[in-house]
Amino acid sequence: MNLNLKDKVVLVTGSSGGVGRKIALAFASEGAKVVVNYRKKSKQESGKAAEAVVSEIKKTYGTEAIAIDADMSVEAQIIEMFDKAESSVGAVDILVNNAAYLPKGPLQNYTETEWNYTFQVNVTGAFIACKELIKRLRERGVKGKIVNISSQAAFFGSTSGHLPYDASKGALISMTRSIAREVAREGINVNAVAPGMVMTEMVAKLWEERKEQYLSRIPLYRIAQPEEVANVVLFLASDMSSYMTGTTLDVTGGLMMR
Ligand SMILES: NC(=O)c1ccc[n+]([C@@H]2O[C@H](COP(=O)([O-])OP(=O)(O)OC[C@H]3O[C@@H](n4cnc5c(N)ncnc54)[C@H](OP(=O)(O)O)[C@@H]3O)[C@@H](O)[C@H]2O)c1
Repeated sequence: MNLNLKDKVVLVTGSSGGVGRKIALAFASEGAKVVVNYRKKSKQESGKAAEAVVSEIKKTYGTEAIAIDADMSVEAQIIEMFDKAESSVGAVDILVNNAAYLPKGPLQNYTETEWNYTFQVNVTGAFIACKELIKRLRERGVKGKIVNISSQAAFFGSTSGHLPYDASKGALISMTRSIAREVAREGINVNAVAPGMVMTEMVAKLWEERKEQYLSRIPLYRIAQPEEVANVVLFLASDMSSYMTGTTLDVTGGLMMR
């Protein structure tokens, strides 16, 4: 099956670990050139982890990759990341908005600052990146793809007090639809993926504490592995999904059926 991703330039935000890392590797396995985004100021290891993803890509798949530091809550850094990508691996064709901030509740503990920061990273950062990509695709006169990583929490609501996160993931889906409508005739497909529980650092503690409760809601009776989300992202970014735009694919092991 030819996914037609060879030599395409893919930018995956927040891809030094977790689902983002697997998405980056999946694209590389199809011959795409990958921009591994991370933010230097979070954990010292993120930079090293991002470089490790780049080395793994080059060694395993022999395709080009670069790690670029940009905080997705800062507009100037997002725009600069596109410039850096362009002058190293090439102009971005595909954007995967994967970076996300997961705040901890409950409701009365949230401050306005925490609420705003969650939206700044999960929605505004993704919006700026979409806007920047679309501007550049138009200037080049080429088609492109955007995949936004939402969550089943956008529909289900949270059972563990992540209110601003859930709301931000709902906003990301609304944004996906509106942008998709606006750019459809230009050959730019914009879709979203809504994963259920995926085994990454983001949920490892929650999973440990409430494994039985979560399992009881999942028909497939297991947590997803990050590559199971990455495979769906790959599909949405490929020509295999050419007639899909504005959609959100549930990857939830059956937790979400509609
Ligand atoms: N795991 C799940 O069960 C699950 C379920 C549904 C949806 N999702 C979604 O899947 C995506 C990946 O999540 P994950 O499970 O892989 O979690 P993760 O391992 O915590 O990955 C999130 C990534 O986002 C990065 N990030 C956070 N704030 C950022 C910022 N301001 N600028 C740049 N990067 C930033 C993190 O960087 P640092 O490591 O440096 O903080 C990290 O690399 C997210 O969109 C998440 O909402 C996950």
